[in-house]
Formats: sequence, structure tokens, C-alpha cells
Amino acid sequence: MTDIHAVAVLGGGLMGSGIAHVCAAAGFDTVVREVTGAMCQRAQHSVERSLARAVERGKLAPDARDAALARLRYTTELEALAGADLVIEAVVEDLEAKNRAWRELDAACKPETMFASNTSSLTIAAMAAATARADRVVGLHFFNPVPVMRLVEVVRTVTTSDATVARAFAFARALGKEPIAAKDVSGFVVNLLLVPYLFDAITQLERGVATVQDLDAGMKLGAGHPMGPLELCDFVGLDTLHRIGEIMFAEYRERRYAPPPLLRRMVLAGLHGRKSGRGFYDYAEDPPRPSNLGI
Ligand code: 3HC
Repeated sequence: MTDIHAVAVLGGGLMGSGIAHVCAAAGFDTVVREVTGAMCQRAQHSVERSLARAVERGKLAPDARDAALARLRYTTELEALAGADLVIEAVVEDLEAKNRAWRELDAACKPETMFASNTSSLTIAAMAAATARADRVVGLHFFNPVPVMRLVEVVRTVTTSDATVARAFAFARALGKEPIAAKDVSGFVVNLLLVPYLFDAITQLERGVATVQDLDAGMKLGAGHPMGPLELCDFVGLDTLHRIGEIMFAEYRERRYAPPPLLRRMVLAGLHGRKSGRGFYDYAEDPPRPSNLGI
């Protein structure tokens, strides 16, 4: 059982819109906050498309979709989040941007409101310290695509109270997710293991061990993964992956977390994966073909 009724989602990008979808579909009043009117519209479009896809795949009844749509609101006003029982932050992986929002929300929200960050690699303690409610700050790390992936990492930092952890677990279960407990270490559980694997695949490609297609086919057919590593890099977003690697490398100073040179060059060239139309694959083609990276 959860005592949370109203959820605010900060940021309506890929993760924020997926989180808003699952919150509204699970019966929570959900408000999504974006910076501009145009970004609000984009967020709304993306939540509605995701809900429509769930209906198409038979995962959500049309009347449940309509009920979810009726529970969703979009706003540019941070003050519109004041009534939330839980704020989930899913803005860009920039600690200063996140903390600016947390400071404002700390002043606007009621004392019992729980603050949760969907960060994949930043330190929850650094966000908790920006508020006067460090015991009510937690990590709630969702996975992409949010409506499909069942895991939520509940991240406890040194100041998080037992009550907050219990609340976060109950909320994740109310969403129909499977929560696991993670410590506030960069990468938590999944990215700690996944990121070196993805970087290794890029390094093996650079070394000429196998082609893009064969590296992906190898892991799909030989290890039962739903996507090969390079396909997954494109899916996560190469810019996002690069940023996560930089943050993890800064924390551990271990080579396995360092973004490989090829990834850096692809990001510099604007090859950001699926969202930009090109990464390890070229998405102008159907089915996508490996990009010519000159290697
Ligand atoms: N809502 C609800 N369910 C949906 C849905 C939606 N919007 N869209 C699809 N689904 C369901 C489908 O009904 C289907 O369910 P079923 O197997 O019970 O029928 C299932 O999701 C798979 O959908 P599809 O058959 O359409 O698609 P694919 O079989 O091509 O799978 C995929 C797509 C789920 C993305 C799969 O390729 C996959 O699991 N890939 C790996 C994704 C992954 O590893 N994500 C984690 C990335 S790391 C991360 O996010 C952390 C961050 O910090 C970097």
C-alpha cells in the first residue's frame, strides 16, 4: 500500500514521459513539468504515443488509457508541483540543473513530499544536500523503455530514512514494478555492470574483432540478450552513455568506466543513436543498416 496519490514528474523527455505514462496508468494523478510550452507539447505527445502503443500491444484497455489521460496534466510552472506527494526528477544529467530545481521545489512543496531522482549515475547525496529534507530524498531509477522494463532501482543514500526507503518500495510496487535496493554508488547496480560491457563492445569493434552486426548477433543468439550491445548503445543514446561513462570514471578512476575513443568521436559528430537517426546503425534504412564509420 502506498500513501502517495499525486505525482509530479520533472522533465518530459524519453524517461520522464515513460515515467508519467506508468504513473498515470497505475492510477496516480500525474503532472509533468517542462521548461517551455513547446517542450510541454512534445512531452504530452510522447506520453500519449506511449499509452497508444500500450493499447495496440494489448497491455492497456482503451478505457484504462482514457482514465490515464484524464489523470495527466502538463505545466511549465514549478509551483504547480507544490501539491505532489512525490516528485520524480528526470531532467538532464547535470547536477547543477537538478539542484536548482530541487532548491526551488524544497521551498514550494509540503514537508512530507518525497523527492526522487531518476539519475543513472549522479550522486543522490549531492542532491539531498541541496534540500532541507535530506531524509526524504531517494533515487528511483527506471529503465528504458519505462512501460516495458520491470525494474526500478531504489537508491538509498547516507541520509535517506528507513521510512522513505519503505515508501519508495511501496510506490514502485504500486506501479507494478519490481524494486531492488541499491546503494548510492555511481551506476547503482545495473549500469555498474552494463556500462563496462557496452564500452567493451565498442572497444572490440574498434579493434576489428567483429562487425557491428556480428557483435550484436553474437550476444543476441549466443547469450539470449534481447538486443546486441551496439544496438543497445544506440537505444540508450550515445551522448547519454558517454555522459554516464564520464561520471562513473570520475567516481572510480577505473579504466573500464572510461568512454572509448570511438564513442567520443561519434558523440562529437552528432551520431547520438536512434534519436538522432544515426549511431552504430543508420535508421534511415528499414531495417537499419550498420553505419559506415570508416573502421
Ligand atoms: N507499453 C506497455 N508495453 C509495451 C509497450 C508500451 N508502450 N511497448 C511495447 N510493450 C510490450 C510488448 O507488448 C511486448 O510484450 P510481450 O513480450 O508480453 O508481448 C514487449 O513490450 C516487447 O515489445 P515488442 O515486441 O514491441 O518489442 P521487441 O520485442 O522488439 O522488444 C525491447 C523491444 C523491449 C526494447 C527489447 O528489445 C529489450 O528489452 N531491449 C533491451 C532494453 C534494455 O536493456 N533497456 C535498459 C537500457 S539501460 C537503461 O535504461 C538505464 C539508463 O540509465 C541508461
